[in-house]
Amino acid sequence: MATKITWYGHATIGIETADGYKILVDPFFTGNPAASTTADKVSADFIVVSHGHGDHVGDAIDIAKRLNIPIISNYEITNWLSAKGVEKVHPQHIGGGFKHPFGYLKLTLALHGSALPDGSYGGNPAGILLTTNDGKKIYLAQDTGLFGDMQLIGEEGIDLAMLPIGDNFTMGPDDALRAVKLISPKHVIPIHYSTWPLIEQDPHAWAKRVEAETAAQPHVLKPGDVFVLE
Ligand code: NI
Ligand code: MN
Repeated sequence: MATKITWYGHATIGIETADGYKILVDPFFTGNPAASTTADKVSADFIVVSHGHGDHVGDAIDIAKRLNIPIISNYEITNWLSAKGVEKVHPQHIGGGFKHPFGYLKLTLALHGSALPDGSYGGNPAGILLTTNDGKKIYLAQDTGLFGDMQLIGEEGIDLAMLPIGDNFTMGPDDALRAVKLISPKHVIPIHYSTWPLIEQDPHAWAKRVEAETAAQPHVLKPGDVFVLE
């Protein structure tokens, strides 16, 4: 079996590992104009939340309660989720990894904000580096500006990177292209664009630049599409 990546639109990502675990990252369905499904239909074994913003916390609480599954996030956000009645949480923090049943998940640096939807302090925003049990390395940058230490993440040997290209709130196409050069992933998928007019981008134009200027293989998905990582 291979690892299957579903892009649900915006920065909402489903990972199904080769050994059958389903991890749902930044589950933003309700109020997401790009979402390919709804919060009541999605299934998962674990949720991961990268930072506190509403387009990332999204429906995490409702889905965790409905499925009785844990949410992994930074310490400040897991405390907030516990106070909201989420029973199972796993706090981590930047630079820290943990061997979960589905693989080794490390939170990485992200240059962004993290206030929670009610104004509560959401700690520092994070990216997500997952090493699956069969050794695939997947880097989900989520919301971030470009930073030079992406090169350190790349040194781990990234099979797939998912990078924001929307600009305005995160890296735009130019910086995301520089990020590909720093990370040198085998495959790259653009995210966090065209959800709203403010972050409208042409992912195909970006993919052409990736093909021309890097060794990475770009894959432009439509919301709901599945990418199979062999
Ligand atoms: Ni954000
Ligand atoms: Mn965002």
